[in-house]
Amino acid sequence: GRKNGLRIAVIPGDGIGQEVVPEGLRVLRAAAKRFSIDITFDMFDFSSWDYFEKHGTMLPSDWKEQIGGHDAIYFGAVGWPEKIADHVSLWGSLLLFRREFDQYVNLRPVKLMPGVPSPLAGRKPGEIDFYVVRENTEGEYSSVGGRMFAGTEREIVMQETVMTRVGVDRILHFAFDFANRTKRKHLTSATKSNGIAITMPYWDERVEEVSKSYPEVAWDKYHIDILTAHFVLNPQRFNVVVASNLFGDILSDLGPACTGTIGIAPSGNINPTGEFPSLFEPVHGSAPDIAGQGIANPVGQIWAGAMMLEHLGYPEAGAAIVRAIEDVLAQPAFRTRDLGGEADTETCGKAIAGVLEAAA
Ligand code: NAI
Ligand code: MG
Repeated sequence: GRKNGLRIAVIPGDGIGQEVVPEGLRVLRAAAKRFSIDITFDMFDFSSWDYFEKHGTMLPSDWKEQIGGHDAIYFGAVGWPEKIADHVSLWGSLLLFRREFDQYVNLRPVKLMPGVPSPLAGRKPGEIDFYVVRENTEGEYSSVGGRMFAGTEREIVMQETVMTRVGVDRILHFAFDFANRTKRKHLTSATKSNGIAITMPYWDERVEEVSKSYPEVAWDKYHIDILTAHFVLNPQRFNVVVASNLFGDILSDLGPACTGTIGIAPSGNINPTGEFPSLFEPVHGSAPDIAGQGIANPVGQIWAGAMMLEHLGYPEAGAAIVRAIEDVLAQPAFRTRDLGGEADTETCGKAIAGVLEAAA
């Protein structure tokens, strides 16, 4: 509970998760000190190959009791494909957290940072700065459907999109409310009601309806095909972009790709009701190709910590971490190899923590 300080469940997981999480914690501790936030970190070794090797499962049977009462989960990465198939490790841990804790929002900031070259020619920091809000539980990703007459000339395959009023309205409320709390107060809805002529008109209808509760938020909508073009051609246009599961999946990879390296992008899997903890993690995985060398970029993990503090009611602390990241990325000496620098993971993490300490 908030009253007795924050309790965070920390799960480093596999590979570079073990290297970037300590830097994330270093920065969170520095921010906690500066903003007088009382945080306790509880470390968990499950959701990793090491745990699986010892116990034969990714999680203990009482994992929900162990981490379900925490204020949030701070997650590194899971996956070690040489030892264990990805569908076993991911479905046996991270995807269970998302589902069982009803983390129906996937939130990803898209922000061009100093020192990170954008693949979009001529774009400068400040010109790309928005959020993608993805519906994380229903929509196009359903298990409703099937295959008949398999292997014959009459073979039939169907998979249904499922949109529920509860499911659509709750993601729209989150997105409008989120947009309402931003400076620009603007929201864009991703649709395709010209082609997907049943569920997408329904989505549009609910956007129209839910928007009435947020009169200060200006909103527009684009069909997904032209929307992807605008992400590349006019990224300055966007503030908060809300989308169904499939469209959001695509946009939440395309957006961060427009801002450079995978090593700096964070993501929140959010249960807005607070009934269950939300989970904050970098977008990247366990990177077995560079694991154990101490050269991974810790910025995605650190930025995920900033999102976590913002979500838990400490927006100034979150913003201070993001500013410290910007300060440090602007200095070539602290850039890791994926950004063309020579700094190691710890050097970069310490520099970001140092900015927060110096400002205290
Ligand atoms: P990956 O994100 O781990 O790595 C892709 C490429 O980006 C690699 O060349 C890697 O070295 C580089 N990279 C990633 N993060 C970096 C960082 N912080 N600093 C510098 N370079 C970085 O994706 P990959 O290789 O497809 O998957 C590896 C494992 O991670 C698999 O088991 C996969 O299932 C798992 N995975 C887990 C995720 C999660 O826990 N949320 C997300 C994505 C993948
Ligand atoms: Mg994806």
